Amino acid sequence: MFAPRPERSATVEVFVDGAAVRVPAGASAAAAVLLAGAPLIRETPISGAPRLPYCMIGVCFDCLAEIDGIANRQACMVPVTAGMRVAPQRGARVAFPA
Ligand code: FES
Repeated sequence: MFAPRPERSATVEVFVDGAAVRVPAGASAAAAVLLAGAPLIRETPISGAPRLPYCMIGVCFDCLAEIDGIANRQACMVPVTAGMRVAPQRGARVAFPA
């Protein structure tokens, strides 16, 4: 039921909107976005207003992002992996890109 926490000194490199950032192993992709100081993680589909992660517990959906090429993922629920690419989601997700 419980898993041991990774060493606090362990970090992984991820890319937030193309910029490399080192984050603690076990952190979420949303935490990586905040640590990177990114100005937004998504834009709303209607007005294009910028959003950043808010609740960090999977409730508000303000952290929807494109992670490793897959859009509409809740970044606060996705643990980072080495080399992960997190990109802002702009507007509505494209269900089936051409
Ligand atoms: S930050 Fe609220 S659902 Fe991810």
